[in-house]
Amino acid sequence: MDLLTGKVAVVTGAASGIGRALAERFADEGMHVALADIDDARLHEVVVALKARGSDVEAYHCDSSSADSVHRLAEGVVNRFGTVHVVCNNAGVLATGDAWTGPISMWDRSLGVNLYGVIHGVRAFLPILIAQGEGHIVNTASMAGLTALPGAAPYSVSKHGVVALSEALYLEMQALGTSVGVSVLCPGFVKTGLMDTAPSHQLALQPGAPADPIATMVSGLMREGIDAGMAPPEVADHVVRAIFAGRFWILTHDEERKAPIERMRRAAMEENPQFGPPSRHPRLSRIARRIRRPG
Ligand SMILES: NC(=O)c1ccc[n+]([C@@H]2O[C@H](COP(=O)([O-])OP(=O)(O)OC[C@H]3O[C@@H](n4cnc5c(N)ncnc54)[C@H](O)[C@@H]3O)[C@@H](O)[C@H]2O)c1
Repeated sequence: MDLLTGKVAVVTGAASGIGRALAERFADEGMHVALADIDDARLHEVVVALKARGSDVEAYHCDSSSADSVHRLAEGVVNRFGTVHVVCNNAGVLATGDAWTGPISMWDRSLGVNLYGVIHGVRAFLPILIAQGEGHIVNTASMAGLTALPGAAPYSVSKHGVVALSEALYLEMQALGTSVGVSVLCPGFVKTGLMDTAPSHQLALQPGAPADPIATMVSGLMREGIDAGMAPPEVADHVVRAIFAGRFWILTHDEERKAPIERMRRAAMEENPQFGPPSRHPRLSRIARRIRRPG
């Protein structure tokens, strides 16, 4: 797409972090913006702030993990704005912990919001874009969708799913000959509220359970990374540039590009996975050292 002004964007997870920055950036581009989230109070604050800047925006309560909720969002957006052009399936939650203990609800939650949220968004909105022959879908994955993240398998699995789904969609749009664009957003650490919701999800999921040591350790490292992470508006810049360029891959962190290359080289050569030298992937190397020497 070459022009955003006057067009309609939808962003899920818009009450905070990357979603909020995307909504603000689209509004700055002169777009009408539908902001969706489960956190009504924070969403209201964002919408009030954007309206005060003169933007045409609307808040929608939407639970991305629910197909009904996402379809209601699509109906509401079309009723209010007439159509939709840019769809950012961005809502997400962090899930840390080992893959073999803990409640299955940890998996349900991670796959429900992070992966099914994107699936529901695609099924609710993509038919609209295809019918009008114009539009762009941006699905938020993560670098954890391009490299396995030990200690956060439920999260990493959900993000690999988002990458695979998005890549298939891109190729399908080409096969159909439509000009609808697809991008997958794979950020490294970004300074957002992602960690603030993670522990409470975990407590809610494991009432009275002892702390999971792997979750505790990985959460600490994630907290450090996120606190020192990229500013969300910078991520929004990458997204807007990718929409204009019709670019599928959106990798925001140059220093993390080597990790998926090394991962796929190993796969192609049938070499076992390993964390690699610290320079190649500092985050994974630190996690590996702590897993080998817990405490
Ligand atoms: N922060 C990072 O370092 C980082 C890195 C890579 C990918 N991501 C991804 O970016 C996306 C945005 O996360 P963020 O970092 O801005 O975190 P954030 O917590 O600041 O924002 C996430 C938003 O999603 C909302 N949300 C959670 N569950 C929802 C649901 N069921 N339905 C609708 N909304 C829901 C939250 O209320 C919140 O407003 C996520 O998909 C996340 O996995 C983040």
